[in-house]
Amino acid sequence: MIQIENLTKSFDGVPVLRGISLSIADGEFVALIGRSGYGKSVLLRHLAGLLRPDGGRVLVGGQELSSLRGRELERLRARFGFVFQGGALFDSMSVFDNVAFPLREKTRLSEAEIAAKVRAALDRVGLESSEDKLPGQISGGMVKRTALARALVLQPEFLFFDEPTTGLDPLTAQGVLELIDECHRNLGFTGIIVSHQLPRVFDIVDRVAVLHDGQIRYFGPPDGLERSDDAAVRQLVTGRA
Ligand SMILES: Nc1ncnc2c1ncn2[C@@H]1O[C@H](COP(=O)(O)OP(=O)(O)OP(=O)(O)O)[C@@H](O)[C@H]1O
Ligand SMILES: [Mg+2]
Repeated sequence: MIQIENLTKSFDGVPVLRGISLSIADGEFVALIGRSGYGKSVLLRHLAGLLRPDGGRVLVGGQELSSLRGRELERLRARFGFVFQGGALFDSMSVFDNVAFPLREKTRLSEAEIAAKVRAALDRVGLESSEDKLPGQISGGMVKRTALARALVLQPEFLFFDEPTTGLDPLTAQGVLELIDECHRNLGFTGIIVSHQLPRVFDIVDRVAVLHDGQIRYFGPPDGLERSDDAAVRQLVTGRA
């Protein structure tokens, strides 16, 4: 379970999050949508423990993130997977080594056990024949799929995706969304996906949260969005000003 309670955050006196509350049940997958620059990545960075709230609380799996330090925070973070905006692979490491990285850092598995897990993860994202390539030698869609494999390899309970399809052609983007959906069904993680891929992303989530002017203006099933009486919500969904 992920609980965000009255979260506030400002930068240099400018409020970005003005009291965000969201409660996400175990196994639930939520799309976080909103216009560019409205604080979606900032909200996710709080869930990663990379930013501390000015006010309010963030609880993941019942533990308050901002109260944890050092090893305790690391232990909780080990249950998370992140797919960051842009992929964030290590450019000098092969696809295989990128996916192996969290296993080498966070587990004491043997190289043979690591290889088995890496190949299973690469298989799942359809990259089994590209394991020796460097990030610079594969396409943007393959970079995203490698980042997905790396996030999945530790079989995290919580998965956060920040625009995993941005910059991809529509068909490849759809393929990545379907892959994420398949992983969610098979692995049952609790997660949030930030996406501008509307309305496609609505097909793979249980609920949608709309962030606007620092507040959650809608939190409910995708099919209720169009009936919202909030003009900002309808504008975002229809793409019409
Ligand atoms: N570390 C920081 N220091 C100062 N300002 C920041 C910091 N991080 C984010 N901001 C500001 O917070 C606001 C929200 O940024 P954020 O990256 O969360 O937007 P976003 O909704 O993810 O946008 P996009 O859809 O373009 O990715 C922006 O005005 C940004 O400049
Ligand atoms: Mg962002």
